[in-house]
Amino acid sequence: MNILALETSCDETAAAIVQHGSKVLVSCIASSQLSFHESGGVIPEEAARKQVECIVPIIRKVLKDSHMDRNDIDAIAVTKGPGLSGSLLVGTTAGRVLSSLWKCPILGVHHTLGHLCSPWLECTSQPLFPLITLSVSGGHSDIWYRTSHTRGTLLGSTRDDAAGEAFDKGASMLGLPYPGGPSIQKAALNGKRSAYEFPKPLHNEEGFDFSFSGLKTSLKYTLRDLPENTPLKAVLPDIAASYEHALCRHLIDRLERAVAKNPDVREVHIVGGVSANAHLRALAEESLQGYALRYPSHITYCTDNAAMIGCAAYFLIEELGDTAFDTFKTEASLPLSNVIHA
Ligand code: KG4
Ligand code: ZN
Repeated sequence: MNILALETSCDETAAAIVQHGSKVLVSCIASSQLSFHESGGVIPEEAARKQVECIVPIIRKVLKDSHMDRNDIDAIAVTKGPGLSGSLLVGTTAGRVLSSLWKCPILGVHHTLGHLCSPWLECTSQPLFPLITLSVSGGHSDIWYRTSHTRGTLLGSTRDDAAGEAFDKGASMLGLPYPGGPSIQKAALNGKRSAYEFPKPLHNEEGFDFSFSGLKTSLKYTLRDLPENTPLKAVLPDIAASYEHALCRHLIDRLERAVAKNPDVREVHIVGGVSANAHLRALAEESLQGYALRYPSHITYCTDNAAMIGCAAYFLIEELGDTAFDTFKTEASLPLSNVIHA
């Protein structure tokens, strides 16, 4: 089964053709990220304007590069939400038009379900259920216990900001460009992780929730309380390294706890934009020794891409049959609970 997938939930315009859920025939991403280097975050109207320009050329490109035409496409999958409303509209409108012109079925995919499925893309061995997934991006931070692609339980979630947001806002305070995750990772390279102390959020609380607002506030006060006339450049590596460590430690502490409480899990997955972080991966490997730890097979499948949407669509069809296509019919936004059943 060949699925043409579109993803336009934030600042990317992405299209891909995915075969049988995991083989990526072609995956293209046009990003407007560079235009938001200065602003510290995405400007929704500007992102949507760029997506309107890019969507048709990128669809043409994936068809051309895969040597396919509309007759080779069995279904169209498009991110239905959550995301920026103008951006989502570009993808869903393009999908709707193609579906109607090509007489091809279309399904709407929850963006987070795409991230949850991303380890299946170009994987060398199929992941095994039950598994635990830490899904961390600019829009969400969740821990899932999953028994299939569409079945699982949300064990914990963020109570305030998402992990990626904490990276992005932290970078902005440090005068580093958007997106903040890669900027902080780079700035932290030669820094000392214990140089500055940050709080351990929700440390004495049971459960698997996250909270990042205290860490952000703490970064603000760390900068405010620097000795007078300290050039930021001189302390940047140490502050970036300490802040990055605090964010990653919080994520891995909660993940470790969730894994320990669910001894039947066969694998632990880390997905979403933040899963590209090298220090997060190093901490996970150190803390979860003895577990089969898995990330998306390539960094481009950690951050937003359309291949993961095609992958999720395939497994939705496989597990839900024709009802998978109902996901596009409703006009309401698509809560993840619609596709993840207990
Ligand atoms: O999954 P994603 O591409 O988009 C959303 O669904 O939000 O994630 C984007 C987020 C941004 O906040 C970005 O700063 C973060 O992922 N990110 C990283 C890294 N690469 C991207 N965070 C930490 N380290 C990275 N290397
Ligand atoms: Zn995402």
